[in-house]
Amino acid sequence: MNRERTLSIIKPDAVQRGVTGHIIQQLIDGGLRPLAIRTMRLSLEQARAFYAVHRERPFYDSLCAFMSSGPVVVMVLEGEGAIARNRELMGATDSKKAAPGTLRNRFGTDIERNAVHGSDSPETAQAEIAFFFSGAELAALSS
Ligand code: CMP
Repeated sequence: MNRERTLSIIKPDAVQRGVTGHIIQQLIDGGLRPLAIRTMRLSLEQARAFYAVHRERPFYDSLCAFMSSGPVVVMVLEGEGAIARNRELMGATDSKKAAPGTLRNRFGTDIERNAVHGSDSPETAQAEIAFFFSGAELAALSS
């Protein structure tokens, strides 16, 4: 398997619940190294741009309002097969259906307020990382 990078977001519901540290520790224990971490608040426009792929979906407006409702923690995670590994650690999109012990099961509420986001493919990971972090920033951190 390849050494990869993926984008992770700890969503406003999880930040508000005070479980950021627990989530980061579970990711580290699962074999992922946080290469870059930033706490920020997304504007509604940034949330709409980040989730533009979902703009035709009925949940788009609600999702973007939620994602801009409070601080988030955005991270670049690095590790072997990081994209798939992060998705395993997160569990199913719907927190109510996520396997016991997964991040969404432990810290999310439902299909929208599901605690964490993770890139779903190498192409998406590249685009999502570039949305938040500059190449120069990451080059400085990885040396
Ligand atoms: P995420 O992994 O961030 O990718 C898109 C997000 O849209 C997803 O997590 C959920 O927060 C949300 N989402 C996906 N499907 C639905 C749905 N059917 N209803 C409401 N929100 C959804």
